[in-house]
Amino acid sequence: MRYRLFVMIILGVFVGVLDGFGLAMFMPLLEMVNEVKQANGSSLGNLSFLLDGLEFIGLSLNLTAVLLLMIFFFAYKGIIKFFSGIYNAILRKFFINKLRNQLLSSFNQIKFKYFVISDVGRIQNTMSVEIERASAAFYNYANTLQQAIMVLVYVGFAFFVDIRFALLVTIGGVLSNFLYKSIYKKTKGASKEFTKDSHLYQGQIIQYVSNFKYLKATALLDVYSNQLRKSINAIERSRFRIGKLSALLESAREPILIVVVASVILIQTRLLNASLGPILVSLLFFYRALSSLMNLQNSYNRFLELSGSLDNLMDFQKEINNEKEQNGKQVVERLNTMLELKEVFLTYDKVAILKNINLKIVKKETVAFVGESGSGKTTLVNILAGLNPADEGNVYIDGNDRNTIDIKSYQKKIGYITQDPVIFSDTIFNNVTLWAAPNILNTSRFREALQKAAINSFVDELPLGVETILGNDGVNLSGGQKQRISIARELYKNIDILIMDEATSALDSETEKAIQKSIDALKGQYTIFMVAHRLSTIRNADKIVVMSKGEIQQIGSYAELIESFHLFKKMIALQEL
Ligand SMILES: Nc1ncnc2c1ncn2[C@@H]1O[C@H](COP(=O)(O)OP(=O)(O)OP(=O)(O)O)[C@@H](O)[C@H]1O
Ligand SMILES: [Mg+2]
Repeated sequence: MRYRLFVMIILGVFVGVLDGFGLAMFMPLLEMVNEVKQANGSSLGNLSFLLDGLEFIGLSLNLTAVLLLMIFFFAYKGIIKFFSGIYNAILRKFFINKLRNQLLSSFNQIKFKYFVISDVGRIQNTMSVEIERASAAFYNYANTLQQAIMVLVYVGFAFFVDIRFALLVTIGGVLSNFLYKSIYKKTKGASKEFTKDSHLYQGQIIQYVSNFKYLKATALLDVYSNQLRKSINAIERSRFRIGKLSALLESAREPILIVVVASVILIQTRLLNASLGPILVSLLFFYRALSSLMNLQNSYNRFLELSGSLDNLMDFQKEINNEKEQNGKQVVERLNTMLELKEVFLTYDKVAILKNINLKIVKKETVAFVGESGSGKTTLVNILAGLNPADEGNVYIDGNDRNTIDIKSYQKKIGYITQDPVIFSDTIFNNVTLWAAPNILNTSRFREALQKAAINSFVDELPLGVETILGNDGVNLSGGQKQRISIARELYKNIDILIMDEATSALDSETEKAIQKSIDALKGQYTIFMVAHRLSTIRNADKIVVMSKGEIQQIGSYAELIESFHLFKKMIALQEL
């Protein structure tokens, strides 16, 4: 925030000083009630210069003049307070905007490998709820600062008017503050608990929603709800602890301070024979300081309550910054010659998932990956898609090491149809074109993509046609329909490499045939990687890569493999393909 906080502080000082001047005017007013007409400044202690100033510019110290002066100070204070409030709102907007954007762009750059093992509940909670809480923390922090300024200004006035009285009250106040130290500490602890429990809860809610069908169908909702309830109870326990502490804080403060003030007044008037006039003005300022102090303590306490979120956000930000993907500089316009993997290894948690992979894929080849479940097909394809770098060995794109190229530019040339189709909660048109302008050119390309993906007639039969909303808020598609929409999206894009991971597995054989036909038609137009379990899908591939336990067993065409490779023959015989 740098200089911005400084501006805020200056504005705060102005507000406090003007308020103090305005308040001081009450004293001459009180005097006039007693002695009528003229007041002198003696009861204002050192602040008497305000009235002397009036006399100096030739105004007599009558009621009207004092009232006008008072109005002047408070009006001026109001104006500055207004600007200070606006400035605070600007700061808050700036703060949360910056925080959100920073988090988003850091998150965009994290390693896929890190994403896979990260806690979704934490991510979701941090990026939505926690960021709000952090913004509130900031607000309370700023408020604390402002209130602290007010306290300083008022206490300053109090000292200025009657230093001995002020000194004694301050000592009493500081002593009483030690009482609060432990409460503050406990509040901070409870706040951290609260954040931790909220992460857990968010994660559980996500799983509850995404697995709802399964849980309902198998009467497991109650079992899972028990898990949720545990979290709910834990969250509420921390919240209650925070509430108890703040109740204690708020109720004890005033009585304690009044005891302090009363004692000091007694000591001053009885033992030190001080006169009551300046004490009263000083007290007036102290009273003002006291209400600022209360606001300060409230804000500070609230800040502490929320500071768990701020800490969490900082940790999260640091963590994702540490997990940033390395990105090279060389921009890939398109795939010109080939992809090559040399002695590639990939490990997850020290377990090698891919071992010594050597593979060469020439542009516009169609390559099929087959092998038992868990053999590493998806993992290998993820490397080809640039999602993961190799832990050992090298990946070359047109002869350039993957780590030297700007991976995003390469990925722009990739269409990826994953095992679980991606559907956004939006219209069919937007799902396929990814929010392109609906002009003639885009619309006709869109139509073409629908046709190629064999989803044309289904879309036209919907009452709202291409404007039908899919996903959470709209029509729910069958597994096969979802896949066809995803295929249409990739065909709409201008890509060089098309990756299909079990892309046709959820389709009935009729539809599959239709898509297969269009995929066959794509053969030779794109470089195609297919992960497939069905024989029909891979029969026409230029190259079939047979995988087992993270290693490539054999590479060859269908004819070659069936001829010479025993494992492949067995797979076909067992209909594992
Ligand atoms: N994030 C991960 N952490 C640890 N191990 C993982 C992770 N992702 C995948 N694996 C492991 O990597 C191996 C290969 O998984 P992969 O998804 O590549 O298999 P697959 O051949 O695509 O299987 P399927 O045909 O079932 O889709 C599996 O043994 C899996 O347990
Ligand atoms: Mg897979």
